[in-house]
Amino acid sequence: MPAIQGSTAWVSGAAQGIGLALSRELVAKGANVVMADLMEQSKGQKLAAEVSQGGAGVAVYDQVDVTDSGSLHRSMVDKPKEAFGCCAFIVINNAGIAVSDDAGEAKMKAMVDVNLMAVMRGTYVAAEAMRAAGQKGVVINTASMGGLLPLPETPAYAASKWAVVGFTLSCRPLKKSHGVRVNCVCPAMTQTPAVGAFFESKFKEADANHPLLQDQLLPEVVADAYIALIENEKLNSQAAAIMPQVSYLHNFDFVGVTMQGMKDGVKLPRRAKL
Ligand SMILES: NC(=O)c1ccc[n+]([C@@H]2O[C@H](COP(=O)([O-])OP(=O)(O)OC[C@H]3O[C@@H](n4cnc5c(N)ncnc54)[C@H](O)[C@@H]3O)[C@@H](O)[C@H]2O)c1
Repeated sequence: MPAIQGSTAWVSGAAQGIGLALSRELVAKGANVVMADLMEQSKGQKLAAEVSQGGAGVAVYDQVDVTDSGSLHRSMVDKPKEAFGCCAFIVINNAGIAVSDDAGEAKMKAMVDVNLMAVMRGTYVAAEAMRAAGQKGVVINTASMGGLLPLPETPAYAASKWAVVGFTLSCRPLKKSHGVRVNCVCPAMTQTPAVGAFFESKFKEADANHPLLQDQLLPEVVADAYIALIENEKLNSQAAAIMPQVSYLHNFDFVGVTMQGMKDGVKLPRRAKL
């Protein structure tokens, strides 16, 4: 088990919400954490100092835009070595944004760059760094319940999160090739300053009594799910659904369902020739 005590971790989107709650929990459990976010460096350093207070580990802050590949590499690979003398073997790709589909193509693309491209790039950068360091490690990507279910309010956001789940489930071989387990979390509605607030207003627009507004997760509860995925060495290529009442591993069997469908499936009429 990659013990958290004494380990080095890198968390993106760490300045608020889920990433901040997870950074606090990792430091409390004795990890040294690079908290990576867009927040300006001096403010971030103050936040990291506050997170470090009374914890068994230490947090440092690193201002980075995870959509910039050079900066991402510097933050994930060089910063942990500079701050703690070793590679991060717990890597949390958590930074994310949410926009409406009617915000326009440029904003949708920017969202996909953060929610998906940075996650894929971050997974490979982490895996290469861990292999080069000869260390086993774990990457956890942040998807959403909107990556397991349709989310009609924001189809493009749902697409970015479904893609994170598909990517993560397809990373199974990295355990053998690089010694790296790759899992993802799929939280339901969580009370956070930006993404959470965005969905709160979106769901309220649709229905003031929207059922998803009734029972929201706290970021600390989501952070606990990351900890469980880090600590359980058996878990690789898994998507964990985090809901207010229950959390569970979402066991996809796409291959089985496809094979069964081919066996039993109703033949659809062939398309007429155009
Ligand atoms: N809040 C929810 O209801 C909910 C539910 C499911 C999944 N999620 C996902 O959880 C993750 C964390 O979101 P949150 O709810 O804590 O939201 P949040 O908006 O409070 O925090 C997200 C953090 O990511 C940072 N960030 C955004 N773009 C960045 C970039 N390019 N580079 C570096 N940092 C960047 C922001 O500055 C912010 O600090 C996101 O991936 C989000 O999609 C949130």
